[in-house]
Amino acid sequence: MSVTWNLDSWREHEIRQVPKYNNKDHLDTVEDQLRLSPPLVFAGEARTLRDHLARVAQGEAFLLQGGDCAESFSEFRADNIRDTFKVLLQMAVALTFGASCPVVKVGRLAGQFAKPRSAPTETIDGKELPSYRGDIVNDMAFTSKSREPDPDRMLRAYNQAASTLNLLRAFAQGGFADLHQLHRWNLDFVKESQQGEYYEEIATRIDETLGFMAACGLTSETIPQLRETDFYTSHEALLLVYEQALTRQDSLTGRWYDCSAHMLWIGDRTRQLDSAHVEFLRGVENPLGLKCGPSLEPDELIKLIDILNPENDAGRLTLICRMGADGVAEHLPPLIKAVEKEGRTVVWSCDPMHGNTIKASNGYKTRPFDMILKEVDAFFDIHRSEGTYAGGVHFEMTGQDVTECTGGAQAITEENLSDRYHTFCDPRLNANQSLELSFQIAERLKRHRDNNSKSS
Ligand code: PEP
Ligand code: CO
Repeated sequence: MSVTWNLDSWREHEIRQVPKYNNKDHLDTVEDQLRLSPPLVFAGEARTLRDHLARVAQGEAFLLQGGDCAESFSEFRADNIRDTFKVLLQMAVALTFGASCPVVKVGRLAGQFAKPRSAPTETIDGKELPSYRGDIVNDMAFTSKSREPDPDRMLRAYNQAASTLNLLRAFAQGGFADLHQLHRWNLDFVKESQQGEYYEEIATRIDETLGFMAACGLTSETIPQLRETDFYTSHEALLLVYEQALTRQDSLTGRWYDCSAHMLWIGDRTRQLDSAHVEFLRGVENPLGLKCGPSLEPDELIKLIDILNPENDAGRLTLICRMGADGVAEHLPPLIKAVEKEGRTVVWSCDPMHGNTIKASNGYKTRPFDMILKEVDAFFDIHRSEGTYAGGVHFEMTGQDVTECTGGAQAITEENLSDRYHTFCDPRLNANQSLELSFQIAERLKRHRDNNSKSS
């Protein structure tokens, strides 16, 4: 690890998962253009999110992080953004209402473009080409031209992230997220389902409460919390040339912030102690996520925490555990024990998606709903027995009615997967499945919090 951090110090470190840009001058020009472009988020916003996450770390709030596995240029439409936002709001309502717990909402949105791959190249019918690394790098079509990494794609991704964020800010603050609009968040195809009905029941009960509050003079006009919401963005900080170009020095504090999103995380494939990704992210002040997969050893985790959060600041670091339903009982407790023993303050979040990907018999990559719920359950149980706080969840989900994960109340089968399988990368929970899962989690969270308040 370099002693002093600077914007370029990551370049001296071993780097994994990088695209090979063939035209260095072209890359330099794009980096320069990005450096001159306005930041997408402000340092102050990232600091506020850090404060909210500190409350999660102390057990006073819950983190809901979710969105696309990979955003794409072709699916970029206001309706898609709106529907994902609606479902995230609904999930947050289910959690807030079910568990009487404030929910910190963070989207995998407005910048989640770059993808790590298991192999640098892909071979089809004897032809070998670079792997698809997300729309910010290259195109999915299997031709040499499409797969060639193109720096201009970073500019398009930046512009798309800016428009997405602009819309999200309008939705969050312009009246759409007003609690009086609860019923309007229920998507038509969800309304008819069991989840939709259950959601309507909650919405009606909240309406009654709002009616009572209005009678007492407490309305959207007088209480901003009723008419707007805080919504933050996040993505995997994988493409470091892009992240560096959007990193700015805060004029108030003199510290560096990666202004491409409020929160950035380090993926499971790039979290080695001496990696370029760890080096870059240790120097920015944003709240960070660290994906923790089954191969992460407890002592390695403590060393990573030393590097990423040397001041043991609550809210700086969220450990996003993705062990798989069958691996969580073996791999999670040693990590929790080590963190507790060393007295480190972190947010513990559960990503029940990335350890539960399987290949269906018809070749589709999928995730069974039962396995997702099983990992969430085990995550809560383990934290309960360790005396620690299960602080959040991290999902790949969409507001669309896709058929990518099997199971759930809709009972999507492997045969159904081909009906509406639209993902650019991993299979996502659809709107119904996302809502169903949030109801289940609300129950567990409520139990967990009830138990804690009894024992304290
Ligand atoms: C992801 O979150 O899309 C991802 C690639 O996760 P992980 O790094 O945990 O495999
Ligand atoms: Co993914």
